[in-house]
Order: sequence, then C-alpha cells, then structure tokens
Amino acid sequence: MSKKIIGFSKLSKQEKIDWICSNYLDNSKEDIEILNKYLNTDIKTQSLHDSFSENTLSNFYFPFSIAPNFLINNNNYCLPMVIEESSVVAAASNSAKFWYDKGGFSTKVIGMEKIGQIHFLFNGNFQKIKTFIDDNKSILIDSTDSISSKMKERGGGITAIRLVDKSNEYKNYYQLSISFNTVDSMGANYINSCLENISKKFMEEIKLSNELTEKEKDINIIMSILSNSTPNCIVEAKAECKIDEIGEINGLSGNEFAEKFLHAVKISKIDLGRAVTNNKGIMNGIDSVLIATGNDYRAVEASIHSYASKDGKYKGLTECSIDNNIFSIKLKLPIAIGTVGGIIDLHPLVKLSHKILRKPNSSNLMEILAVAGLAQNFAAIKSLITIGIQKGHMKMHLINLLKKNNANEDQINNAIAFFKEKEINSKAVKDFLNSN
Ligand code: MEV
Repeated sequence: MSKKIIGFSKLSKQEKIDWICSNYLDNSKEDIEILNKYLNTDIKTQSLHDSFSENTLSNFYFPFSIAPNFLINNNNYCLPMVIEESSVVAAASNSAKFWYDKGGFSTKVIGMEKIGQIHFLFNGNFQKIKTFIDDNKSILIDSTDSISSKMKERGGGITAIRLVDKSNEYKNYYQLSISFNTVDSMGANYINSCLENISKKFMEEIKLSNELTEKEKDINIIMSILSNSTPNCIVEAKAECKIDEIGEINGLSGNEFAEKFLHAVKISKIDLGRAVTNNKGIMNGIDSVLIATGNDYRAVEASIHSYASKDGKYKGLTECSIDNNIFSIKLKLPIAIGTVGGIIDLHPLVKLSHKILRKPNSSNLMEILAVAGLAQNFAAIKSLITIGIQKGHMKMHLINLLKKNNANEDQINNAIAFFKEKEINSKAVKDFLNSN
C-alpha cells in the first residue's frame, strides 16, 4: 500500500502524474499515455480547464450532443446534452419530434425563490428572540449592502427574513430562513456570502440588546448555508394532444397507448421502486442539459428528489390525464439554476450551449430543462409500454461492442443490418467480426 502523501496539491501536474503512476498504476506506459492523450494541446485551453478544479491530471470527456426539434411555447430549440448513457439523446429527439406536430410543449415558471439558512441554538424566550429579529430585519439585510449592489441593480437581492422555531424537533434549535431572488445567477456564492455577513451582524447586534438576558445572548450559530431544497423555485412543463392525433404506436391504438401510459404514471405514484426509476428517467433529460449549460446537477437532483416526497411519500413526478379525448402529460418541479456566473462565463462548450439555446435567461432555462425532463420521461414510458427499452439500448450497445473489438466502418454498417432481428451479445458480435 502507498504511503500517505503530504502536499500533493503543491506538486506540479507532471509530479502528480508521476506519483499516481508509480503508486497506483505500476508505472504503466499505456496509462501515462491515456492521461497525456486527454490533455488539451492548446496550453490556454488546458490551463482554463485546470482552473476549474484542484489536483487535475488530465481531462475527462463526455459526448456533447444535440437533440433537435423541441417546440417550446412555439419557439424552436435544439437542446445541447452532455451524457454518457447511450439512447438518451435519441429518446429526447424522438419525443421532441413526436410532440412537434402536436403543438409542442408549453411551460410556465411559477416561482424563483431561493433560500439560505442560518441554523442556531438559542436557550430562552421565543417571543423575545422573535421581537429582536423583527426589530433588526433591516439592519441584518443592510449588512449585505457591500456585496448586494450588483444583484440589486439586476433586480435581485434579499426578499424576506423569517425566524423558524424548530425547538420542538431539536432542543433550542432555531433558524433564520432568508429568501433570495438571484435573478439570472444560480447565486450560491452570493447567498452564502450574504448569510455569513448576516450571521456576523446578528451576533454583533445580539450582544448590544438590552432586552435579552446574558444567557439568551449566548447564541450558538451552528452553520450558515444556502438550502438546496427549493420548493418555491418551480417550473411546469406540459404537452397535450387529442387521442386521435397519437396514431398507432407499435401495435397499440392511440387510445390503448394513452390508457397504458396513464397506468404507468399511476403505478409511479404508488410504488417506490417505479417512482424512483420514473424520476431517474426525468433526470436523464434534465441532468444532461444541466451539465451542457454549466449548472450544478447535484443541487437540482437533490432538490427534485426531495420535492418528489413533499407529500410524505416519494412519488413519480409525472402527471398524466385523459379528459374529453385529450391526452395530457405534465411535470411540475423545482429547478434552481443560473445562466450567468461561474463556469457558465468560462467553459467554451458551456458558452456554446447557451448560444445554441439563444442565450436564455434563468426562467427560460428552467422551462427548457423541465421540457427536457418531460420529453425524456415520455420517451421512456412510450418505449416501456410498447416495445421495451432494450431494442433502442441494444443498438447503441452493439456499436460499443463493435468498437471495443476494433470493427471498421463497413463492418459496423453490416453488423447493424445483420443484428436487426438477432440477439446481441459479446460472443455473437465476435463471431460476426471473425466471418465478416
Ligand atoms: C434509464 O436510464 C431510464 C429508464 O429506466 C426510465 C424509466 O424507466 O422511466 C428507462
């Protein structure tokens, strides 16, 4: 086993590569070559990518794809998607094409509130601390003036401060819940900086209070941090059509398809196993556009999954109805993102994604993301209730197997035709390549 290393971050990139290679990769020439191959030969580009993280050795590529033909509120979009799972982009494109001729998707942003929390322990009279907060709200908000001017110019800033009593759930535990409008930025740094200023001012003002006793002034701030639960940063996406417009889908009439789809959605409301998978399919679409647009997909994932259990039980997020011969699907979920700041202004491919989307503001991007999730979910359920997903998946899997076995272009094309109706597995592909 290698020894603990002190000061790894201080080593040069080459020294880091040498260390990892000699301690973990048996100094394998091939492995060193891989690390070098994925470095960008343009020094400026490489140094930009190095600046996004610490201890970088190389770059890690994912495919950058486009799903065309998304009609959203009567505007045509091509969605940039970054994802490694084969068939997600094909499924999104398929769904977009299906809905294009039926009026496309419509969307609505319902709220854009983001929340920061100061968690603290207070041992005293609730009414007194409540009065203190009410009396000092503007002083607390003003303590963020030095970092809020730009945000205010753009129409954002702090919109509310609330004291939350959590002492029934945890002894002496209270919270300052602070609402923010961060306009087009994700705002994590802004919110966290504001919270730290407010915490400091809160403690300063507490010390000066004539109303609180010394014991009550002994407040213990545990932490100040934004919350990734964003139940008031909500967007809705919808698609609907007459059942007659659905047409026959893989042997199912439009009516049968709609009914079966509705059953699938209802199952996701009552069964946890299906609910999680249904929502995972939604996240296939949302995450890939989040990554392409430089947004924090972990934050959005966390928020969406917590929202899925807002009724006390984790449920599938898809809504579906059949009313008066209209088949309708809908998603309503929290998506807290940004279109300026951080990597969005720096990563060339992220910048390109925003250009392809015609530079959306954050509410436009929330809408696009919700549509990506709905489209992906529709495509998944459409496959699942008809031919199953393996057919689509296996075609991509076949190409991966062929590439793994160094097939040339002709062999790949012939194999796609050959395996159309045959079972695909590693041995069958090897046998095919040996005789073609
Ligand atoms: C696979 O990545 C996603 C699906 O499992 C989603 C679903 O089942 O709805 C196909």
